[in-house]
Amino acid sequence: MNPSLNHAMIDDADARRAQERADHFGEPGHEDITGVYIAQRYEGYTEENQETWRILYDRQMEFLATRASEVYLSGARSINLVRDHIPYLEGPRSVNHFLKRLTGWQSRAVPGYLPAKAFFACLARREFPTTIVIRPKSSIDYLPEPDIFHDIFGHVPLHADPVFADFLQTYGKAALLTNDPHHTERLARLFWFTVEFGLIREGGRLRLYGSGLISSPGESRHALESSEVDRRPFDLDVVCATSFEIDHYQPILYVLESFEQLRDAMNSYAMRLLDRAGAKVA
Ligand SMILES: [Fe+2]
Repeated sequence: MNPSLNHAMIDDADARRAQERADHFGEPGHEDITGVYIAQRYEGYTEENQETWRILYDRQMEFLATRASEVYLSGARSINLVRDHIPYLEGPRSVNHFLKRLTGWQSRAVPGYLPAKAFFACLARREFPTTIVIRPKSSIDYLPEPDIFHDIFGHVPLHADPVFADFLQTYGKAALLTNDPHHTERLARLFWFTVEFGLIREGGRLRLYGSGLISSPGESRHALESSEVDRRPFDLDVVCATSFEIDHYQPILYVLESFEQLRDAMNSYAMRLLDRAGAKVA
């Protein structure tokens, strides 16, 4: 892990225990996914951490105001995502307080990277594993791993939308119950090209919604403006057959016509998968 992250927030016995539970999730004695969650310990944020949030928020929100999906922007307003402080996960002013009433989704703090099955198990419960540390100010433009700016600013506003909310839970259930590596790889690609790097057409214009684009000042511009990006219409089976690389700007992006299109495609895929597995998705 990057030593310049504010480690003090996730360096204690609780966090170590939670990480161990995540690493062993699914093994005998480790069936309870809620054991991977930790407290946010909000007092651990430094003034520099708060300033980093404000700078990132101001810079990116101004850009996104005319370029992000309306669903994202209205979600950000309805969960009270604001510039003046790093989001609270608990309490009356928290993002979770608002999300609960809107869709039932919750953001839950985790100590670090979750193995795939543990991550899917959280999504299946409408719980989003959330990194609580924030990048150091010295790396404000680029961080190779998720931080709270990516996880909350980038992901969580869409969880306020009922259609996207249903899609993401169905995704989690299907991915959790599938033990076929072929389908696990296909589902990873679907996540990448939608939740992380998706574009959508709204009112005849391309808009951003993928969290990797939303939370990246460099790639958000590149995704919309570069002539080097191949922007293709969304088709679930084509997306699932497209491989990706993580260490450079994405040369291929897929464009939704609506979030209903994504939800409906996911529902059909889940039914196909779960019929084979003899399980039921909803
Ligand atoms: Fe992400």
